[in-house]
Amino acid sequence: MAATSAPVGSMRGELCDLFRSALTVSYPNSAVDPAIAACNNAKNGDYQCNNAMALFGKLKGTEGAPKAPRDVANAILTALPANDLVAETSLAGPGFINIRLKKEYLASRISHMLTGGLASWAPKGYTGKKVVIDFSSPNVAKEMHVGHLRSTIIGDTLCRVFEYCGADVLRLNHVGDWGTQFGMLIEHMADARRKRVEAGGEDKDLDEDVSDLQELYRAAKKRFDEEEEFKTRAREAVTRLQSGDATSLASWQRICAASRREFEAIYTRLGVTLTERGESFYNPMLKDVVDGLKEAGVATIDDGATCVFVEGQTVPLIVQKSDGGFGYASTDMAALKHRLNDEKADWIIYVTDVGQSQHFDMVFAAARKAGWLVEGGPKVSHVGFGLVLGEDGKRFRTRSGDLVRLVELLDEAKSRCAATIRERRVEAGEEVVEAEVEEAASAMGYGAVKYADLKNHRSTNYKFSFDEMLNLKGNTAVYLLYAHARIAGIVRKADKDVYALAKDTPVVLDHPKELELALHLCKFPEALEDAIEELAPNRVTDYLYDLSEKFNSFYVDCRVLGSEQEGPRLLLAEATACVMRKCFELLGIKPLYRI
Ligand code: ARG
Repeated sequence: MAATSAPVGSMRGELCDLFRSALTVSYPNSAVDPAIAACNNAKNGDYQCNNAMALFGKLKGTEGAPKAPRDVANAILTALPANDLVAETSLAGPGFINIRLKKEYLASRISHMLTGGLASWAPKGYTGKKVVIDFSSPNVAKEMHVGHLRSTIIGDTLCRVFEYCGADVLRLNHVGDWGTQFGMLIEHMADARRKRVEAGGEDKDLDEDVSDLQELYRAAKKRFDEEEEFKTRAREAVTRLQSGDATSLASWQRICAASRREFEAIYTRLGVTLTERGESFYNPMLKDVVDGLKEAGVATIDDGATCVFVEGQTVPLIVQKSDGGFGYASTDMAALKHRLNDEKADWIIYVTDVGQSQHFDMVFAAARKAGWLVEGGPKVSHVGFGLVLGEDGKRFRTRSGDLVRLVELLDEAKSRCAATIRERRVEAGEEVVEAEVEEAASAMGYGAVKYADLKNHRSTNYKFSFDEMLNLKGNTAVYLLYAHARIAGIVRKADKDVYALAKDTPVVLDHPKELELALHLCKFPEALEDAIEELAPNRVTDYLYDLSEKFNSFYVDCRVLGSEQEGPRLLLAEATACVMRKCFELLGIKPLYRI
């Protein structure tokens, strides 16, 4: 009895369909959406339908109105179509409908997944949708700081979840590669070159000029703030750059290329891919966008600046400064228009710190005012995240007060993991193979940094603590990687082709712990639906952690290897490992099969 029919959508989705039809039959004019949620207490049921109370309220005072919410619940139940997923229902409290699912239904879902692949569990509804995710987006010549790390990690996971769901995802790196700061950088580089020539050196831009970008930035900024004459020259350099002067453009490109190399090194380590489309890309569009907004009466001149006033905001969105210059907001308006018109995005998502919420609120409101965004059309969302704090609870900085360098952070996580792995191998009397340690340490170290970030709701601030994130116990990547390796070890020891087994061995859910594990496994699509709905990666980490807990509790009570139920239980173990691996993949963490 392998899979009978191909299950489509999530279980919650299927229950919604059933109850939608029951609602339409029992209360044809009510037009309510089914409210189906997982039961908090497994004793009551697996899911519950919460429609009766609200519907009762809605019908109150109308002709033939029901007498109590329980009557409504009963009417809904009477109209519930025949199906093969609901085992039993019961009424609780004022009118909750508790739902218990059929074991066979859960078992066949799992068999189906093992024989047909995990792709069959991807939530439906996003296939072919164009989703633009603007994330990471560091600034050229400035340090990529922990804020950008958060954006990179959160953005990457959101991309992966959408990709798994079949969406056409465009991963955009909106790099800050344009703006007035380039004037001072170019001038400072030009001065260095002049000095070099005077000293008898080469008369061209050299790689060493941009080898330490942060230093270049610091030095240029200092002179800009202190030397009047330099400031004037820097301003002139901006104008030259913006008017397309070849020498200025060449220097600008050098700076961007050097920054790009630094960013790429981090993306490679983290396994993140991005399409670079920096602010400069939109530069040629800015004038037209602003003119268009003015002509349409959406933007007005206020105190010399071109502004869009939007409801509910005390300050306007400035799309052109009084000196004629374009800024961050101008670029974001142009970028939004481009993503809507040229990219034909169905959903545009921006991942930045919460500090930028007001900026995005205004950009979105201005776009609505301009008629670019309309009800029922493409969606826009700002995914804001909180700060990374040091162990002292203050903004995460090094002892010297500098922003923490990302590379060093990743290095440290990795080397700490390598030490632990070596130690454990020695203790266990195993051979220490450096290549293996290296591989496991990067998976664990980078995984730990990512996981520690993703497991908190993104809007909260969190403390960066190596000790916590590298803990072998608790909700950490390290713990979960070990948990997965352990399950993989069980399956390996059985020495059976589990996927072949799945074709003729049914999943059996007789033990309560088997049933509990199976139910949680089948909820995987729902965790992803929630992650997308709330744009919250912690939905995936929560699910993953619960899954490993459910497996542990199953494993304590249900012997797998050498038991009479070895076959069916191996299926459950492999299904667990399989879903865990998918979670790791979505979180950008490399699973380990043995540590
Ligand atoms: N470069 C900006 C920063 O570092 C983030 C850009 C976010 N994206 C955007 N379209 N504004 O804060």
